[in-house]
Amino acid sequence: MHLLPFLPLLSLTLAAHTVQTWPPQPPTSLLPAAESAELLRLHRKLVEIPSISSSEYEVAQWLASYLRSKALKVELQEVSPKRYNVLAYPSKRDTNILVTSHIDTVPPYWPYYYNETTHVIGGRGSVDAKGSVAPQILAVLALEEKMFNDIGLLFVVGEETGGDGMRAFSEWEKRPTGYDIVIFGEPTAGKLVCGHKGILGLGLRVKGKAAHSGYPWLGVSANDVLVEALGTLAGLRGKLPRSEKYGETTINFGRIEGGVASNVVAETAYAGIGLRLAGGTPDEVRSTITDALGDIKKSVEEQGGELDIEWREGYGPVDIDCDIEGFETTTVNYGTDVPNLKGDHRRFLYGPGTIFVAHSDHEALKRRELEQAVLDFRRLIVTAGRMDKFREKNLEL
Ligand SMILES: *[C@@H]1O[C@H](CO)[C@@H](O)[C@H](O)[C@H]1NC(C)=O
Repeated sequence: MHLLPFLPLLSLTLAAHTVQTWPPQPPTSLLPAAESAELLRLHRKLVEIPSISSSEYEVAQWLASYLRSKALKVELQEVSPKRYNVLAYPSKRDTNILVTSHIDTVPPYWPYYYNETTHVIGGRGSVDAKGSVAPQILAVLALEEKMFNDIGLLFVVGEETGGDGMRAFSEWEKRPTGYDIVIFGEPTAGKLVCGHKGILGLGLRVKGKAAHSGYPWLGVSANDVLVEALGTLAGLRGKLPRSEKYGETTINFGRIEGGVASNVVAETAYAGIGLRLAGGTPDEVRSTITDALGDIKKSVEEQGGELDIEWREGYGPVDIDCDIEGFETTTVNYGTDVPNLKGDHRRFLYGPGTIFVAHSDHEALKRRELEQAVLDFRRLIVTAGRMDKFREKNLEL
């Protein structure tokens, strides 16, 4: 599909005088040796620079200089002090296609490693999402010329903590206009994602009245109120919106805290709660939850306490294009930056490595998956592009 006849040639020439000590050559490689080595070095460097959300300064600077060294024009968009999105493009700024992923990671930092026996590569971000960033760059660099220099690259900060990077790009007054196709990179185990669940977050904050635990009637236990409220929410399981495509809406009581000691009636309590929406809209679910907690709220207020629901931003399930021949497809339960980029464009979501190891202390993927991702991103870009504007230009790819 991806007929790039110049590549093997290029690799032979390069391989002849690139006697690199690292990375080691695997027994079989999906890419020409020089390209594979470049991919591995780029990926390694990205993983070696820690970039936990809100500390993305260094990785953005390094990535900008790398992309400049590849003759791309690079712009840094300040999202907040010392935090930059990286936008790169070959010559014209308003490209038809945008290939994008994120450069921040979840904490804590885990160092890079390459296992020379198994060719497994690990470390924080090795999968999520530097496992997408490196192959995207290699894929795009080889395609620019063939596709009229019509592909831009965007690497954003803050994806793991609510997507402030992509939202800032979306709202940027200098934002390039007119993307027809946007390809997002996240760990999808090499499949094309047809959509993902929505999210809705909330905090329950209870204020009661402290008292000696021997005389609990003198106080209002914030913990008792919270336990009752959580019981009510647990009772909503199976009754929230569901759909054929995404299954059940789930509720996670991710964080609970309350009180100070076993012999004190708790004055305050808090629960941080995350929902994954399989259907409906955040507004519908908000009102279901508000109604369900109505009686408890009323009763605690009558006793002089408070029960407040603090809503976080949310969005409903996100449908994504996945009609590209030759890819396996799936749906996923995690959130992405896909809904944070506003605009009327076809959007695709693909990346190497599995979400089941992302965010863990054993985040890793195989070298072969990284290499496959270069080929897949290329195929995705070319096929999506061919379905779009390039068709008018009778492009032979
Ligand atoms: C590489 O992986 C193999 C198989 O899991 C393991 O036995 C070996 O210790 C690893 N090598 C290094 C250097 O960690």
